[in-house]
Order: sequence, then C-alpha cells, then structure tokens
Amino acid sequence: MNEKRFMITTPIYYTSGSLHIGHCYTTVAADAIARYKRQNGYDVYFLTGSDEHGQKVEREAAKVNKTPKEYVDEITNSFKDVWKLLDISYDGYVRTTDDYHKETVQKIFKKLYDKGDIYKSEYEGHYCTPCESFWLERQLKENCCPDCGRQTELVREESYFFRLSNYADRLIKHIKEHPEFIQPASRANEMLNNFLLPGLEDLCVSRTTFKWGIPVDFDSKHVVYVWLDALANYISKLGYLSDDETLFQKYWPASVQLVGKEIVRFHTIIWPIMLMALDIPLPKQVFGHGWLVLEGGKMSKSKGNVIDPITLINRYGKDAVRYFLLREVPFGSDGVFSNASLVNRINIDLANNLGNLLSRTVAMIEKYFEGNIPKSDVSSDLGKDLRSFALSLPKTVDANMNALKIPEALQSVWVLIDMCNKFIDETKPWVLAKGENEGDIETLGNVLYHLAECLRFVAVLIAPFLPDTASAMFEQLGVDSDLTTPNSLTEFGGLKVGLAVKKGDAIFPRIDAKKELEELEKLFPSDSEAKEEKKAEEIAKEIPEITYDDFAKLDLRLALITECEEVKKSRSLLKLTLKVGNETRTVVSGIKSFYAPDDLVGKTVVLVANLAPKKLCGIESHGMILCASNSDDTVLSALTTLAPMDDGLKVR
Ligand code: MSP
Repeated sequence: MNEKRFMITTPIYYTSGSLHIGHCYTTVAADAIARYKRQNGYDVYFLTGSDEHGQKVEREAAKVNKTPKEYVDEITNSFKDVWKLLDISYDGYVRTTDDYHKETVQKIFKKLYDKGDIYKSEYEGHYCTPCESFWLERQLKENCCPDCGRQTELVREESYFFRLSNYADRLIKHIKEHPEFIQPASRANEMLNNFLLPGLEDLCVSRTTFKWGIPVDFDSKHVVYVWLDALANYISKLGYLSDDETLFQKYWPASVQLVGKEIVRFHTIIWPIMLMALDIPLPKQVFGHGWLVLEGGKMSKSKGNVIDPITLINRYGKDAVRYFLLREVPFGSDGVFSNASLVNRINIDLANNLGNLLSRTVAMIEKYFEGNIPKSDVSSDLGKDLRSFALSLPKTVDANMNALKIPEALQSVWVLIDMCNKFIDETKPWVLAKGENEGDIETLGNVLYHLAECLRFVAVLIAPFLPDTASAMFEQLGVDSDLTTPNSLTEFGGLKVGLAVKKGDAIFPRIDAKKELEELEKLFPSDSEAKEEKKAEEIAKEIPEITYDDFAKLDLRLALITECEEVKKSRSLLKLTLKVGNETRTVVSGIKSFYAPDDLVGKTVVLVANLAPKKLCGIESHGMILCASNSDDTVLSALTTLAPMDDGLKVR
C-alpha cells in the first residue's frame, strides 16, 4: 500500500436545520488537515456529507409542509453553500438519500442478516428522537435522555437487532492493543468504562413506525436505523459492495475520523463492530474533539443561541473565521466562542501581528530598495535566531499536525511572526535607512531580506489553514510558485534577490473593536441569563488564598488500592480498600462511571487521609482520593505519582 495515502472524514450533518459555527468547526479542522497532508505529498481523500433520514427529519419536513426529499434537498444545498464560502476542499460529498448509498446500506444489512449477526425480535425501550438513540430504562437520567436531557419516547415494535455483544471482547482487545485508535485517550477510557466493560446489549437496527429511511429490502415494513444508515456513508461513497470498489481499495481504512465528543460512542462501538462483522479493517483513528461553546453553555437551536457562520464570513472573510476556529479551541477540549474573543483574535493575531508585519516589510522594501528584494547575508550574526527558528518550524508544525494539535501548530508559526516584529523593533530599519554609519544600508537590506524570507516561510506553513491569506502573501512578496511548497523550506535564503514585491491591500483590516462589539451584540446577543448564572457559579466557587499553615493541615498520603468493588445500590460509587503504610482504610469514591474495579487494583493514588469520616450508601468512608476532572465531569482521572513510590509516603 502507498504509505502516502490519507483518508479523513467528518461526521455527516443532520439535515434538520441550518449549520451553525460549531458544525463548521469539525469541517474546517478536517479541511486544514486534508490540505496539510496534500501539501506534504499525500494522496488525500476527504469525505463529508449530509445525514438525511430519520424520524426527526420526517417530522421537521411535515411541519413546513414539504416532502422529506424536498426538505433535505434544500438543506443540503444550503450546507454546500456554507462549505463553499469556507473553501472546504472535500473530495467526496455523500448524501444518505443517494442511490449508491441506499444500495450499499441494503447490501450491508442483508450481509449481516445472512451471517446471523442481525436477527428479528421485538424492541421495547426508550428512544430519544433528537439524538436518534435507543436507551434502556437503567441508562436514563431522571427519566430523560442521558445525552441531551430531553424527554424520551417509550417504543415497542418488531425490530431487527444487531449482535453487538458477539464482538465486544474483540473490540475491547482492539482498543487496549491500539491506544491510537480512540483519541484523546480519556475518550477511550470513557468508552471502556461506561459502555464496553459493563457489557453491551444488542442494538435495535430497524424501525417500523415511520417511513423516512432506507427500507430493509427483504422486509419492507422496516426501515434501517438511522445510525447504521449514516455510519455506512464512510464506505458507501468509496463504492463498497458496488461494481466499482476502486476508491474503497485505495483509501480504506480511513486514517482519521473526526467526530464531536457526543458521538464518539457511535463511532467507537457500533461502527467498529459493523466493520468487524463485515470483515473490513477498522479506521486507524477516531478522534473525539470538544465543542465550541458559548459563555452560557452549548449552542443549540432550541436555546436560540446559535452563531451563524455566513454572517461572520461576510463580515470578516473566510480566513479570519477559519483562523478563529482552528486557533481558539484546544483540539480535544471545549473552547469558548465570544464576540470579544473573535474580534481580539482578528485584531491582534491577524491584523496587528501578521498583517502589519507584511505591509511594513513590503512598504520598507518599496521605500528603501525600489521594491526589489535586497541582497543579504544569510550567514551573518544578524538574524541568526530567526533563521534557525524558521528552519526548525516545519518539523514542529508536522509533529503537531500528526498529533492533531492544530492550535499548537498555528501558535508555533505565530512565534516566528512575533520574533520578526521584535526584530524590527530591535534593528530599527528607519534609523538604518538614514545611513549614518558605514554599512547601515547593507544591514538594512539584510534585515529586510530576513523579514521577507521569514514571511515566505510563514505563508507556506499557513497555506493549509488560511489558503487565501497565503496566496495574498505570496503575491505581495512576489514569490515564484516553486518557492511556495514545503520542499522550499529546507534552506533559509530561497527568496531570490531582485524579485519585485507588490504592495496590496491590508490582508486583515483592523476592526474598530468597540463599534464592532456593539453590532455583534445586536446580531448575536450574549445569553445574559446564562452569563448571570455562570457568574453566580464562579462567585460560589471563588476560593480564598491560604497560608502554608492552612495547607499543612491537609494530611495527603500515597495509598495503594488493594481491593475495589462496586457499591451495588449506587450508580456512581466504588468501595476501595487502601493500604497506607501499615494502615488499612476503606474509602468510598464517586468514580464508578470512569473506572472498572479491576482497573484500579494495584494502583497508587493520593489520599486525603485526615478528612472526617462520612457515611455514603451505608458505608463509612475514611478519606478521599484526589482526581482531576473537567467542569462537566465527563472526563476524570485519579492522581498518581510520576515514579512508583511506596504507599504511606506523605504528599506535600
Ligand atoms: N448526523 C450525525 C452524525 C452521523 S456520522 C455517521 C450528527 N450530526 S450533527 O449535525 O448533529 O453533528 C455533526 C457534528 O457537528 C458532530 O461531530 C458534532 O459534535 C458537531 N458539532 C455540533 N455542534 C458543535 C459545537 N457547538 N462545537 C463543535 N462541534 C459541534 O451527529
């Protein structure tokens, strides 16, 4: 197989409303990765699309008096418009209403049925229509969907079932043997502990109470469950089980499948089991990224707080929106969208730091050297740091991109931009231009050459993220096309002396922040109620400063977990037996949804040993173990030491 082949996918988007800026986040990230790989010589297939079936779509279409097909056609066109505005370079766009897709899904269903992996029975349980998810009674949270918190419907109907349970052990083994399969690693633990290790139930994979889906061809009163239908997109578009499997043979398995954190479960349990049952290799990686949230919480149509990407693109241009999305959200965690953070990123990173650097450099070359790149000495002491940092950058960017650390990749390029700005302040070209000392003009040429060459490095490196900006920079610097590729970054000094620069418009005009924020507040009012709530929470959480004496009151100890069992009556508690030096302790901890008892036995953790005892579910707990967790408690890890240490030792 050609090692330089790369397939990346985004989820396919529900056609039950318009896209908001949060949706654009996944696709822009996938686009940047796809462009980066292409730029570095990979043969890339980038797949996206729309998810057009299901009860939700059927109901939404009926509400506006349209047939489901009319409804999804319109919405899919509107999606494609957004992708065009954002310059998304997909190679394939799949619609689940396309004929080839429907045929593949029917063939997959039949194949699994013939193999005995799909069987007919009766389903009785809960269904969350907005999430299109089945839930068991015990999985509901206060009688509502544990994912979105909305009311579920009780359904009872004849259904086909997929024997997920047959493949659970194989999947657990795969996840444990391939730590790169589910990333970030915390999501793998979440899947193992919350779903796989407690035992998988067979999955209901057909519905009979509505029509808008792909019919099971050998039993047409059933339509295929929308998630089975949707997941198959990743291979149907490649021609799997069709007359022409060329693309499938060429690109599958996918290198990276990007998905939002709430749908990691479908992509790392149902999807790999479908593939195992079909005897197809699993994707090399499923990456669960975080959400772009508003200050008051998640964006959602029902809260009426969605940010429309088209408005933002029209106001600031697509590259500014792409930059914000790629730079602001640490890949893997949530990132906050606020009008102020957007305007700041545009003004500081783009207009000031990058835009000004380019326009000043080009203007000075025009003013002092008649617009031609001046002669330089790229072995001089002057600019030594710039040169070595610029030359090290492609490697840094590559390492970050391979780990899907997109903000870090961009940030490293901005370090070079900052160094260049500092270089101008230090060398003061306007003073050199007076030529008061011998060699000043030569030095000036050398300074400007270094700046222009660094800007060329920057343009090559940001091209996958900000394609139009890179082109505009090449144009202003007068760079030939052979100097726009990563291959041209192995040496500093590629920029040819004498090339004509060409001043153009500011690549990112500065925004009047005060005026703009007022206007944005009218367009996207910040959710004041949510803000108030958040403020109240923060105040409640405000923690006073303490002295060392206060800290010394804590008796923190290393403790070895010798036994661990579930507290049967509780959803969240585990009972731990700890060895703390010569002492044995019982501690009850609310970490059941993150760890199976066996995962913990033999581990050393940090214990608050002098916490007053407390009864939890009838068991007296003598202390508390320390854990780190995110704000919504969806990710958690117990603390331990970097090197193995004896239990009983004091932590201070
Ligand atoms: N149709 C399913 C996916 C099927 S894939 C076989 C679906 N669609 S969706 O339209 O609801 O979501 C698509 C993607 O957008 C998901 O990965 C989801 O996490 C992402 N996002 C939706 N809102 C988001 C934010 N606010 N921030 C970041 N990503 C967000 O799920």
